[in-house]
Amino acid sequence: MIDARAFRDTLGRVPTGVSVITTKGADGALDGVTVGSFSSLSLDPPLVLWSLDKRANCYRAFVDCKAFVVNVLAEDQSELSRIFSSKTDRPWSDLEFALAPQTGAPQFPGCCAYLECAAEAVHPGGDHTIFIGRVLRLEPAMAGRPLLHFGGAYRRLDDDPVA
Ligand SMILES: Cc1cc2nc3c(=O)[nH]c(=O)nc-3n(C[C@H](O)[C@H](O)[C@H](O)COP(=O)(O)O)c2cc1C
Repeated sequence: MIDARAFRDTLGRVPTGVSVITTKGADGALDGVTVGSFSSLSLDPPLVLWSLDKRANCYRAFVDCKAFVVNVLAEDQSELSRIFSSKTDRPWSDLEFALAPQTGAPQFPGCCAYLECAAEAVHPGGDHTIFIGRVLRLEPAMAGRPLLHFGGAYRRLDDDPVA
């Protein structure tokens, strides 16, 4: 039996980037969520994945969506991470964003990278669902510095090279 607290603490030792995944529903409603589970999956075809708690308020919006944008947050965007990881309504009217050209999902200025994706598949993953996206468009900001999450805190990349 794996103790839930120990499991969480152990996973907290795994450093991740922080992304906000956004979508625009058929009715035009916008949604978004902070995730650390974003990862590359396949080069050919170009696929990415992330996972979402089935109890999330935004769960239905992502299960029903045809496309989403991965906003890879920069080190000065922890406030965006907090907004999209709080259980409160998303304050869209107070946020600065553009709509991605192919899918209309929100893109926040100043991110490290954007990946505009078509919803390719969903797979079961315990109390989460795994979302797979086919990358339609890339927009890297090569000079951007990523926001990291490790040990329960937001962190910056330390550029000291490892020998
Ligand atoms: C750094 C960080 C990483 C997170 N990663 C995930 C994740 O990969 N999957 C997930 O379901 N929730 C993740 N969460 C929690 C969700 O962002 C949070 O529960 C959110 O409020 C769920 O969306 P909802 O407000 O629509 O319910 C993460 C939160 C933080 C702060």
